[in-house]
Amino acid sequence: MLKGKKILLGVTGSIAAYKIPFLVRLLIKEGAEVQVVMTVNARNFVTPLTLSTLSNRPVHTFPFDENNGSWTSHVDMGAWADVMLIAPATAATLSKMANGHADNLLLTTYLSAKCPLFFAPAMDLDMFNHPTTKQNVEKLQGFGHTLIEPQVGELASGLCGAGRMEEPENIVKLLIKFFSTDQTFAGRKFLITAGPTYEAIDPVRFIGNHSSGHMGFALAQKAAERGAEVTIISGPTHLNIQHPLVERIDVVSAAQMYDACKKIFPGTDVTIMSAAVADFTPEHVGDGKIKKGNRPAALKLMPTTDILFQLGREKSGDQVLVGFALETDNEIENARLKLQNKNLDLIVLNSLKDQGAGFGVATNKVSILDNKGNQFKYGLKPKEEVAEDILDRISGLI
Ligand code: CTP
Repeated sequence: MLKGKKILLGVTGSIAAYKIPFLVRLLIKEGAEVQVVMTVNARNFVTPLTLSTLSNRPVHTFPFDENNGSWTSHVDMGAWADVMLIAPATAATLSKMANGHADNLLLTTYLSAKCPLFFAPAMDLDMFNHPTTKQNVEKLQGFGHTLIEPQVGELASGLCGAGRMEEPENIVKLLIKFFSTDQTFAGRKFLITAGPTYEAIDPVRFIGNHSSGHMGFALAQKAAERGAEVTIISGPTHLNIQHPLVERIDVVSAAQMYDACKKIFPGTDVTIMSAAVADFTPEHVGDGKIKKGNRPAALKLMPTTDILFQLGREKSGDQVLVGFALETDNEIENARLKLQNKNLDLIVLNSLKDQGAGFGVATNKVSILDNKGNQFKYGLKPKEEVAEDILDRISGLI
């Protein structure tokens, strides 16, 4: 998510510096280039060796390196960066930044950098609440710099209050949001279901379907790339998803999927029900494996809850609800009926008739119907692109 982004990371002397190796690792994992500049005091909390190993670059502290007769150019570093992040930022460094007191390499670099700047304070609560610190923070915000609010919690002093540096994962999320060009869904909460459900017959057998989960996972990935905070509720699948804005809940049966959806749905802005939920489940689940000799005369099934229908009943005016329909006959009419009966804003119609579309393939061919009678037809394309088409339609609704 941060591929090729150049991040100049200023580290100052706070105990929160112990979190910086994690931060550097996360940034590198996201594809960023990280140049660390640290103060002398920061080196008491974390070693330059650790940070240079993790960032794959020499770490700078001193303007002049007497060993090899070279000097480190604060101007070059400032010009190189796409973003400068000071984390942790001590009260002393905030004060120096606010007053142009450039008495070390980090501060001369700060004054030279023309890129956007984020700062993540870390200090004891009384230091953070002191009027002079507050003034400095406000002054820095007035320069257009972004404050990464410290969190409330137990501090190194044993006191409790605001002063803990924001967690590295959240700092990375913030940078991803900052760099993401299309932020249509920033701050929006999405619930996306994916994959099949398995309905147990006995401890070793189940009724399932061929859904791979590919469509739902592509939707989750693409929505997160546009800034959405996504919860994906997935039935059994081999797929993985790695995005800081995606939280995954794994379920097996339709009943478990319904329980998870019920909990998440009230706080969501957009819900996309792309899971292939079983419509029926065995009435009785065998405690032990049903032996060959005990062949049941019939397998009695009972209906599962229609999750989408229930969500449609609970939906408030500003929530967007999107369903899928898989039809073999009278496709448009049936899809439109589902759209109305389930109180949806959009329905995505898959056709099993088209080659390369539907279950178990990497491509899909869909039509999207809205609740105003419009119908949009798309060609056969990779599920990632289909996901983009669906999200484009949704962005027109919120
Ligand atoms: N769905 C659901 N809960 C169920 C069954 C389906 O939430 N128990 C959702 C699916 O995720 C999909 C939509 O309902 O978004 C339509 O699913 P589909 O299988 O096409 O239709 P059904 O409503 O099950 O109706 P039918 O099987 O009669 O076509």
